[in-house]
Amino acid sequence: MFESLRALPPDPILALTPAFRADPNPDKIDLGAGVYKDEQGNTPVMRAVKRAEERVLAGQRSKAYVGPAGAPGFNDAIARLAFGDTLIGSLGERRVTLQTPGGCGGLRLAAEFLARANPDATVWLSDPTWPNHGPLLGAARLKIESYPYYDFDAHAVRFDAMLDCLSSAAAGDVVLLHGCCHNPCGGDLDPSQWRALRDLALARGFTVLIDMAYQGLGDGIEADVAGVRLLAESLPELLLVTSCSKNFGLYRERTGALSVICASSGVAKAAASQLAATARANWSMPPDHGAAVVQAIMEDADLRADWERELGEVRGRINGLRADLVAALRGAGLARDFSFIEREKGMFSFLGVTPDQAETLIRKYSIYLVKSGRINIAGINRTNINYLANSLAELFKESEH
Ligand code: LMR
Repeated sequence: MFESLRALPPDPILALTPAFRADPNPDKIDLGAGVYKDEQGNTPVMRAVKRAEERVLAGQRSKAYVGPAGAPGFNDAIARLAFGDTLIGSLGERRVTLQTPGGCGGLRLAAEFLARANPDATVWLSDPTWPNHGPLLGAARLKIESYPYYDFDAHAVRFDAMLDCLSSAAAGDVVLLHGCCHNPCGGDLDPSQWRALRDLALARGFTVLIDMAYQGLGDGIEADVAGVRLLAESLPELLLVTSCSKNFGLYRERTGALSVICASSGVAKAAASQLAATARANWSMPPDHGAAVVQAIMEDADLRADWERELGEVRGRINGLRADLVAALRGAGLARDFSFIEREKGMFSFLGVTPDQAETLIRKYSIYLVKSGRINIAGINRTNINYLANSLAELFKESEH
């Protein structure tokens, strides 16, 4: 029966990594998958993670099952990191949090949970969004629509168009927002825009699902969750997916969580049982190691301070690279205004190239980026920045002739 299956095209992001590795060009640059790289092009294990791993391994006495909701200590720590102690206190038993296999597991769990609550739900995704949002939410057979988000010419959030479009979303619909460091465009909402969205959600009654994969990589650990907290304190319902892939560098350990805020503690109790049953039907229980490491870091003042310091260094490096890239592009003689790159947040920005130009950058220059023109800023370093800027200058000049 398998003859009926056709081969699918490669994943638009993940396929870039093996292609980059196989490229013999010594000048090659990897600006593809959203993985942090240091000045030497390595993706290091964070200092606090290394130390916490030693403690976890030394202290572990059993490999017995943990349970579909994961480790309660991790769930508490990761929810506190996102919502803050005050909000955790005031939400009380209206909130449930489950450990998931990465942010993807959290999104998939959210999708199936939403489908259980309302099989007719429409999920609204930003245009553009991370290419895996559609498959993750669509896999639960939820209807997908998109709302305008980013103006590719003005390099700014199309907030009026977004609000206008979402005015047609209604109770039973779900609006997916990026908590911070929008993937792929790097354009985030400002505080007044978060407030306007909160007001619209209250007026229209739709449910908000926030994907937050980059807490701490934009303006700071606390600053990056200001919008999340604003919505969590004012809306009756909310879903929040958090990932530890980037801010703890735990990519392959698949560490994440789904938090669901319900209108009452009674509803939350029912939701918790549905979520646990959904997790049980998918992966039974999440992998333990990454969550145990995060919990160990969050519960130890010294490890936590070291983690915050290193995350600050990561953020500082990315923000510095944004400024360096704008300067290098100017230095390479490009007349185009790239200053938006400096205003945008997190790992990604669009370079403003067409899919054909992206293809040329890969084939001719060995500069790997997503076909949409999205680049991972963290892949830039002092050694490759001039090659990147000069290659882009050449590319743009060629296409202007
Ligand atoms: C990305 O957007 O590049 C990362 O989140 C990696 C992935 O899974 O797509």
